[in-house]
Amino acid sequence: MTVGEEEELPPSKLGTKEHWDGQYSRENAVYDDVGDEGEVWFGESSVTKMRKWATEHLPPSKELIRVLECGSGNGTLLLSFLTSPETSGPQPFHLTGIDYSEGSTRLSRSIEANRRDTLRADAEENDEVVNPAKVEWRTGDLLADDMEEQWDLVLDKGTFDALCLSQEVVAERGGRLPSVVYPEQVAKLVKTGGSFLITSCNFTEEEIKRRWTKEGLGFDSSVPHKSYTFGGKVGTVVCTVAFKKCGGTKTDAAIADSAGKVIARAQGGNGNMAEVCQVVRFKISIADGPRWEHK
Ligand SMILES: C[S@@+](CC[C@H](N)C(=O)[O-])C[C@H]1O[C@@H](n2cnc3c(N)ncnc32)[C@H](O)[C@@H]1O
Repeated sequence: MTVGEEEELPPSKLGTKEHWDGQYSRENAVYDDVGDEGEVWFGESSVTKMRKWATEHLPPSKELIRVLECGSGNGTLLLSFLTSPETSGPQPFHLTGIDYSEGSTRLSRSIEANRRDTLRADAEENDEVVNPAKVEWRTGDLLADDMEEQWDLVLDKGTFDALCLSQEVVAERGGRLPSVVYPEQVAKLVKTGGSFLITSCNFTEEEIKRRWTKEGLGFDSSVPHKSYTFGGKVGTVVCTVAFKKCGGTKTDAAIADSAGKVIARAQGGNGNMAEVCQVVRFKISIADGPRWEHK
C-alpha cells in the first residue's frame, strides 16, 4: 500500500495492542519470578548511543530537563537518565514514559524501584553520578490522546516501527493511518528549540528524514550503528536520527550539506516553502565560474 510518496509496511501483530498487552503480561510474570527485565529493543548499545547523544546535545541546566519516551515499553531507555557521566555532573530530570499497554507501566515501575535500590546500595562503586530525577509512567495512546504538554527531548526507540505495522486507521485523526498520524502527534510534543531522537529498524535514515521533517522538525544529526537482531533476524541496519524543533521566524529556503544537515537558512518570509516540504537538490560548482546542476 502506498500513501502519498511513501510505501507502507505490511501489517503485523507487532502493530496491535493485543500483542503488546500479551508481551508485557508475560514479561511482568518473568520479572516477578526471576527479575529479568525483558526485551531491550535493538540491544543495550542502542540505549547507550541514544543516552550518549543526549549527554552531548542537551545543554546542562540547573532547571529540570523534561524528557519523554513515546511507547516506553519496559522503560530501560528512560531509566538510563537516572545517572550521568561523572564529567557532566548531576542533572535534574523530569522523565515521562507513555505507553498504551498498562502492563508496560507496571513493568517499568518495578524496574525503576529496583534500579533505584541498586544505585543507592552501590553508591560508592558507581562510576556515574546519580541525577535528581522524578519519573512518571503514564498509560496513554499517542495516536488518539490530546496532550497539551511539551518536552525538551522526545525519544522513540522501536515505537514508530511498531505503529507502522498497523493499518488500522485512527478515527480521532480523520481516519488516517498510524504511520501518518504519529509523526504529526509526536512533533507537537517537542518544545521549540527541543529535540526528537528516534531509533528505527524498519526505515532507512533517508526515509526517517522524509517522514519526520514536519511540524517544525528539521534534521539535526545522526548516530552511526552496526548490525543488530530484531524479531530473530540478524544483520538489518538500525538508524538513530535526531531532529530539532525550530521556532520563531519561518524558513523559506535552506541549504544542506551532503549529509542533509542544514548549514544555512533564508528567513523572514511566510515559510511557504518549508510548509510544503519542498526539497530540491542542486550541485553547485564554482571552479570555472558558478554553475548549478539539478541532481
Ligand atoms: C518495539 S516496542 C519498544 C518499547 C521501548 N521503546 C523499547 O525500546 O524497549 C513498541 C512500544 O510501543 C508501544 N505502543 C505502540 N503503539 C502505541 C500507541 N499508539 N500509544 C502508546 N504506545 C504505543 C507498545 O506498547 C510497545 O511498548
